[in-house]
Amino acid sequence: MNGSPLVLGIDVGTSGAKVLAVDGSGRILAESLTTYQCATPCPGHSEQNPEDWVTGTVRGIKRVLRDPEVDPNRVCSIGLTGQMHGLVALDEDLAVIRPAILWNDQRSAPQCESTEAELGLDFLLQNTGNRMLPGFTAPKLLWMREHEPEAYDRIRHVLLPKDYVRFRLGSNLMTDVSDASGTSVFNCGKRTWSNAMFDALDLPEHWWPDAAESSEVVDTLNPPMTSELGLPPRLPLVAGAGDQAASAVGTGIVEEGIVSATMGTSGVVFASSNSWRTTPEGSLHAFCHAVPGTWHLMGVMLSAGGSFGWFNRAITPDIAEAARARDVDPYDELCELASGVQAGAEGLFFLPYLTGERTPHVDADARGCFIGLTPTHDRTHLTRAVLEGVSHGMRDCLDLIRTTGVNPSVVRLSGGGARNAFWRQLSTDIFGCRTATTTTTEGTAFGAALLAGVGGKLWPDVPSACAAVVRETNHLDPGPESESQDQLHRRYHGLYPALKGWWARG
Ligand code: XUL
Repeated sequence: MNGSPLVLGIDVGTSGAKVLAVDGSGRILAESLTTYQCATPCPGHSEQNPEDWVTGTVRGIKRVLRDPEVDPNRVCSIGLTGQMHGLVALDEDLAVIRPAILWNDQRSAPQCESTEAELGLDFLLQNTGNRMLPGFTAPKLLWMREHEPEAYDRIRHVLLPKDYVRFRLGSNLMTDVSDASGTSVFNCGKRTWSNAMFDALDLPEHWWPDAAESSEVVDTLNPPMTSELGLPPRLPLVAGAGDQAASAVGTGIVEEGIVSATMGTSGVVFASSNSWRTTPEGSLHAFCHAVPGTWHLMGVMLSAGGSFGWFNRAITPDIAEAARARDVDPYDELCELASGVQAGAEGLFFLPYLTGERTPHVDADARGCFIGLTPTHDRTHLTRAVLEGVSHGMRDCLDLIRTTGVNPSVVRLSGGGARNAFWRQLSTDIFGCRTATTTTTEGTAFGAALLAGVGGKLWPDVPSACAAVVRETNHLDPGPESESQDQLHRRYHGLYPALKGWWARG
């Protein structure tokens, strides 16, 4: 049994609720994942029942507290993170009005288009720092006003997913500045709600909770939860952060110059910034970071690992199956194949826009392509082109970050893709920048635990928490192929403008 203080980090994710118990040295003592479902009542819609988040979280906390390594009496605070942007609408009795509409729900695309047309991109950038995207929260309210007027009329409060769970663990309606940043009604530069946006969209200001800094204690565990969970009385609950900001805290991206590139299904390039910066077209998300007085810039590629998943299923299922039979990860097998081909795959390029794109091109019509096929190409070239195409897409995001004046000294690679040494070197060459991985692999819930630790006084502030527990490892420098990859990147970058008009014509 561990004798030092502990914190709980909770990630209210899209596929499940993850709970970690972490001690003051950053060691994970116990963890649990409770999965739940996501409903798609019609194409493009994505909903969840907020009660499932609460049940999953409570079950996860109980499981972690039963672990012999964890003494519930030592828990000194709880921090939450979660899927961003989701709309939880509450009535005057604080009851949930309808299933939550999630970040990956596309139904509010028409409301985004008409708002951008009416208010203009400049107005949005000036008052929020960002474009209005269908994933964001406020356009979902505009959709409800149009399509579910009775339910809309009953709304008295609006919460984001992790904030609803915190409200049920405690009693206060609160949010944090990083999660509020993804609502389309938050002035990220000023770290406060935007009255200009409330007026322009005719949305009541009093629906929205106060926004605290991420490591601030904003509530305490309520008495019924305290006895149900068997935790100490008046346990502090910190505000927490949106999942991307929390993941950045968990991997130590809290100083300007350290950037992360995460390859999951989507690809996220994330930079911390000590000053408020935006991109002219809003092509990067510009949000408040989980460290007071700092912001973050973020590029999101929709199909990074998703491109490999598709390639594996559609083009190399036999290779994937043979790899699995030998207990080898199919992705490692693909990297092995690609390593035998020269940089540039003999003139073959792959554009990873299988599900449209968000950064650097906000374009739902863009599609994936192989360009430059000749009879000499075989599957090994196609494999190399896919790997390179995904890294070139991430380089596009990195270059946008560079245009804002943030100069990465190291890019920390994480996500499934970072497990493979060949992909790490390829990305290092394509990025033209030193890379590393980190010793912490549980980024998101771990970040919430670190924020809880700051609120619970285990560490004085977020950068100190990261410095105490996050270490870089596997450093790589750009190699001999870096120069040719730089030239190849210029050719890659020219392909989207050449095809844009063709996709738009449908
Ligand atoms: C961030 C984003 C996702 C969701 C779900 O802008 O859309 O990270 O929060 O994970």
